[in-house]
Amino acid sequence: MSENGHVPSHIAIIMDGNGRWARRRGLLRILGHKEGVESVREITRECAKKNLKQLTLYAFSQENWKRPKREINLLMKLLKEFLIKERKEIEENNIRLTAIGRIDGLPEDIQRELAISIEESKYNTGMVLCLALNYGGRSEIVDAAKDIVKRVKAGKMSLEEITEETFKNFLYTSEMPDPDLLIRTGGEMRVSNFLLWEISYTEIWVTPICWPEFRKEHLEEAIKDYAHRERRFGGLRE
Ligand code: FPP
Repeated sequence: MSENGHVPSHIAIIMDGNGRWARRRGLLRILGHKEGVESVREITRECAKKNLKQLTLYAFSQENWKRPKREINLLMKLLKEFLIKERKEIEENNIRLTAIGRIDGLPEDIQRELAISIEESKYNTGMVLCLALNYGGRSEIVDAAKDIVKRVKAGKMSLEEITEETFKNFLYTSEMPDPDLLIRTGGEMRVSNFLLWEISYTEIWVTPICWPEFRKEHLEEAIKDYAHRERRFGGLRE
């Protein structure tokens, strides 16, 4: 528990800096992603131990398709390995796996392994681990808008019924709470099309530490910093 008891229940992470971490060591970028998986393991385990409600990881953005084919293939391979190898750990830690993004745009084998992991863990009652895959925040909003228009056209929803609350029901994250804390590693001060709707009031914490070296002590630091912030959601101090 952090000093004043103010603990985030949903943490979202932009895992950046894998390439830089590798290059600084004279290694291939892809080795940065490989080491990044170790951070995913440690941080997931740590967050589950802390009884967080949810951890959301930006694992593959829509923009990531612009990378060289070799790098994309390796990222997909790491993801597939993670899904298969971590099933036991997910079960042992009572974690429920979910995913957001245009999942039908992912390679079929990834979709298959993802579906198995989601199905197998669906009755787990502990932390939700949400992987953002082929995810884009603007696309999420566009997809929601399209679904709403379909409903309105079909006469199942009126214009007046479109509010911030009902709009939320059409997002990939409809069943999830908004993140309390967004962590970005690698030092860039950007949100990079991640959870645009959901982070309206989220506290942001950026560290220069690259993702492959992000460990539980850095997570503690972020949580401690969050504990001292005052969240007013646009209102005044109480
Ligand atoms: C950004 O680093 C990171 C990514 C594009 C992918 C993150 C993926 C992993 C950590 C591994 C697979 C994920 C899971 C859940 C098993 P970058 O390459 O943009 O780094 P740079 O900014 O230094 O170039």
